[in-house]
Amino acid sequence: MANKVEKELRRLLLGWYEQNGRDLPWRVKGGAHPDPYVILVSELMLQQTTVKTVIPYFYRFMERFPTIQALAAASLDDVYCYWQGLGYYSRARSLHAAAKMIVHDFNGNFPQIRSEVLKLKGIGNYTASSFLALAFNRPETVVDGNVIRIICRMYHLSDPVVEIEKEIEKKAQALTDVVNPADYASAIMDLGAIVCTPKSPKCLICPWQKFCRSAGQSDVEKIPLRKKPEKKEKYGKVFLISNQAGEILIRKRTEKGLLSGLYEFPWQEAAEVCCGATDTGIEVSHVFTHFKLVLRIYIWKTEETWYSGQFVLPERMEDFAMSTLMKKVYAAGRRILDNKG
Ligand code: ADE
Repeated sequence: MANKVEKELRRLLLGWYEQNGRDLPWRVKGGAHPDPYVILVSELMLQQTTVKTVIPYFYRFMERFPTIQALAAASLDDVYCYWQGLGYYSRARSLHAAAKMIVHDFNGNFPQIRSEVLKLKGIGNYTASSFLALAFNRPETVVDGNVIRIICRMYHLSDPVVEIEKEIEKKAQALTDVVNPADYASAIMDLGAIVCTPKSPKCLICPWQKFCRSAGQSDVEKIPLRKKPEKKEKYGKVFLISNQAGEILIRKRTEKGLLSGLYEFPWQEAAEVCCGATDTGIEVSHVFTHFKLVLRIYIWKTEETWYSGQFVLPERMEDFAMSTLMKKVYAAGRRILDNKG
């Protein structure tokens, strides 16, 4: 009996997807994508980032690195340049390392079994499933935030998600279409993005409405129940150090840790203010995964380079990949430097 319901749910969802599924630049309907590279790039970009944000990055990246060979042959700095602004830069490093591994260790052949896919850097359980389903039509279950929301609402699972992860996974697995896994994975992601949205879900047009235990209920928006840890705030000082030639000092972050490999203006948490630096009173901030960083901007004209780094002309600044936070620092700092002549 349960089996019959799940079969009907698959039929309804795939029918809905055929008519209403989004046309996305990395997507084909009706089976696996013919180019697994497209799926590898898009799935890494889509980790923790919305479809809307990813689309322009995806186009630019694919134009610059159209094949896995092109990506493997590129420098990491070049890859960062096409990733800057997208955030979570470890993904760019992982994608670059994965491309090299596929080209050099797997002779350019994309892995098609789970244990091999998991050898690629930056690919965990979730991305292995979505990659195998979308690139090779393997019967894998994709459980992202959209799917969790749909499953919890469908079965009215109102306990905190962290306590019922296994149950959610089991239910999601039981629903997965093993004949059309690629379309099913895309369809359930779209259902979550278009219909079963966090706020104001559109239950009236949902293909699963008849079976959903939360449809039209007053508590639907409260499901799934997520307990978010508080984000800590960290404070620091950032220095825009310029010389007589109008060049500004930047440095490269070390290869390990947050934002590694990207360029930045010297900054420090709880830094001493050097006597020549002027407090602009301006603060910029950025929210990272586990904390919010607030940087107060100081400007300083000097010829000294007691910080390690290099002086760069403003017109060359775009050649150096920087995080969104550092771009905010630069934009705010530039206005002040320009006004001061
Ligand atoms: N989120 C993660 N992967 C996705 C995909 N292939 N399409 C839309 N949203 C996604």
